[in-house]
Amino acid sequence: MRTCEGLFQIDGQNLANDNLLFRSTTGSISIKIHPQESRAQNIRMSNIPEQELLPTTASVSEDDRLSIGGCDVRDLVEEFGSPLYVYDEQTLRGMCRDFVSSFTSEYPRTRIEYSSKAFANPTVAKIIDEEGLYMDIVTGGELAVAIAANFPAERLNFHGNNKGREELVEAVNYGIDSITIDSFAEIDLLSEVAVEQGVRQKVMLRLSPSIDPHTHMLTSTGILDSKFGFSIETGDAETAVEQALAKDSLEVEGLHFHLGSPIFELEPYSEAIDYVLQFAANMRDKYGLVLKRFSPGGGFAIGYVADTLPPSMGEYAKEIATAIRSGCDRYGLDEPELTVEPGRAIVGRAGIAVYTVGGVKTIPGVRTYVSVDGGMGDNIRPALYGARYAVVPVDRPTAPRTRTVTVVGKFCESGDFLARDVDLPEPETGELLALPASGAYCLMMASNYNMQTRPAVVLVNNGKARLMRRRETYSDLLAGTLNLD
Ligand SMILES: Cc1ncc(COP(=O)(O)O)c(C=O)c1O
Repeated sequence: MRTCEGLFQIDGQNLANDNLLFRSTTGSISIKIHPQESRAQNIRMSNIPEQELLPTTASVSEDDRLSIGGCDVRDLVEEFGSPLYVYDEQTLRGMCRDFVSSFTSEYPRTRIEYSSKAFANPTVAKIIDEEGLYMDIVTGGELAVAIAANFPAERLNFHGNNKGREELVEAVNYGIDSITIDSFAEIDLLSEVAVEQGVRQKVMLRLSPSIDPHTHMLTSTGILDSKFGFSIETGDAETAVEQALAKDSLEVEGLHFHLGSPIFELEPYSEAIDYVLQFAANMRDKYGLVLKRFSPGGGFAIGYVADTLPPSMGEYAKEIATAIRSGCDRYGLDEPELTVEPGRAIVGRAGIAVYTVGGVKTIPGVRTYVSVDGGMGDNIRPALYGARYAVVPVDRPTAPRTRTVTVVGKFCESGDFLARDVDLPEPETGELLALPASGAYCLMMASNYNMQTRPAVVLVNNGKARLMRRRETYSDLLAGTLNLD
């Protein structure tokens, strides 16, 4: 008997190798499918409106319960507690691979640089490394995560609009590949640090192209009125190029911009690329700038709610590659190496947040509030940006959604809501609710408001779960305080 394994699809969805066994005995092939991933269950999965938002391994069991990565979500909560963040390894790796293949098929010399601010964690950094991606950091703390994961320095880039001397020294000592300069003060500071450390540091210059990506005002970064980047419009960008090229300790590799996030439209990318390439050509003519590397940043959107889905990765890649090629052609530039910096689009869909319902309060004719055991402490995005989330009833995902409710947290703020006006089955105390697309930024912006501990985080794959971050304890909360006795 010969046993072989291969990639297999049902309803266009890839199934994991170890969920399948292809057996060839006497010339005939029999296929055994792991019960959790059966055809019937995939069909049921397509009955739930959040399918495109959940991790790719999400399925619904025979008894109508949600499972991720082959793990029953209620079982995970029983083992690791509530609230709980669950990351699916297959979705995470799949996103890395999709980015690499979508971009390199359109523009072969592309680096995919995971923006670790979306979720900085040593286990994730190891996976990013194994997938061969680059990674960017914006603080000494994110550098510490990279170092804890033994992330190769030659695949690291340092962003941030106000890096401190110590942070720059640590990064240069770690042998960081490149640093993206964001202010005049940093041109001087970094060149001093580089001289002291005896290195010629590769740098990029972050520019602000004055282009509106049509996302939330608080997450738009490439407009004129922004703290980020040297503005082309005001002339700062030109002065920065001139000053940086004059520093022997800095090797200017190229230009960068980041418009904001999440960007659901393609056009802002091509508009900004054309503008910055024209600027690059001017700088070549005036100061001899050689554009070896070019980066239009990150900002690639993901689906948070079923009625607003983003362009595909292939569409983003095509738009960016085409704009670079035509811009280089138009302005007589050699095609530079490309770096794209996805954060949200790498980890966002891989993660779900799971909460337990406590009180349910109905105000007749007004609203039904469903209170859960987390909220703005672990996910401030709805309160901060009005971000919208879908909600999946974990114990009965395919049940009819008969009630419109607002899911709120347990923190002492009226603005502490997670999802407004979502349709659910009649809510019940003790049931579990999952918020899909919670893998990016939620935990990174988490706080201990009300002295609430932060949730545990698990990584699931092929029916196994491992803790990536343990739940905080009250001792953790008190650890930094001083006893005044
Ligand atoms: C410079 C830079 N690159 C990349 C990103 C990642 O953005 P996203 O997670 O939307 O891809 C950010 C996010 O703020 C950023 O500031």
